[in-house]
Amino acid sequence: MDHLAPEYPLIYPARIRKIVPWYEELIDTVVKTTIYISESRHCNCRTVLEMGLGDGHLAECLLSASPDTTVLGLEISQHVCKAVSARLDDYCRQKRLKIFNNDIREIGSLKSQIGCCCKVITCSLLLHDIHPDKRLEFLKGCYNILAPTGSIVLADPMLTGSEFMDQILVDDWVKCMRENGVPAADIEKLKIDDPHMFKAINEEDLVGLFYKAGFKIVRVIWRHCNFVVVIASKADQNARCSHHE
Ligand SMILES: C[S@@+](CC[C@H](N)C(=O)[O-])C[C@H]1O[C@@H](n2cnc3c(N)ncnc32)[C@H](O)[C@@H]1O
Repeated sequence: MDHLAPEYPLIYPARIRKIVPWYEELIDTVVKTTIYISESRHCNCRTVLEMGLGDGHLAECLLSASPDTTVLGLEISQHVCKAVSARLDDYCRQKRLKIFNNDIREIGSLKSQIGCCCKVITCSLLLHDIHPDKRLEFLKGCYNILAPTGSIVLADPMLTGSEFMDQILVDDWVKCMRENGVPAADIEKLKIDDPHMFKAINEEDLVGLFYKAGFKIVRVIWRHCNFVVVIASKADQNARCSHHE
């Protein structure tokens, strides 16, 4: 049973740009950061693991930005897998895009399937969908799959933990959605359908989870209202990957 409707990949591009007015800037930050990490560490592997494909836009941006990059996409919805495979068929034929129809919460058991040296994991607009009790396990799974020089680039709504500040951030986001043409009734529906975007994880808690999962360096590199891009790295940039000494 697919949790998404067959038309989701068609509706997604317009919808996400409406509710996240700075979506292009967020994706651009994720892409540039991912490619920078992938190309600058002491390792020749160029494999990026993308968690949750949506309409495949992020995967496509990664593939076109870096001709040596291979993207492995993990996606729970069969409809999404089908639609992205069809849209990015050329990349699939070139074996630069491989799609795995799996639940990312089972990431621990996917290591052997993926079977390569993965330098970067991108996780964009997905963490809020994972139950809070399962997030540490998920980040530990990411840590285990990554190469010693690897990092995760995560984009998601995130709050500060201060009720006063968080109200300002969320109110600003709602104002931007309204200015972007989202009707008030749709925002109310979004609050019911996707409450974790409004009551997002706190920055301190997320940083704590990354450290608990084993990551050594965690940095917030971009923020717009309650949306952030974070890099968490396993080791400093001088670490070496055993695959390519
Ligand atoms: C909001 S979209 C984000 C798409 C893309 N990463 C982006 O930034 O635009 C979330 C995607 O993650 C997928 N997804 C949700 N839960 C998942 C899970 N547990 N395992 C794998 N994919 C999941 C959804 O089906 C959807 O395609």
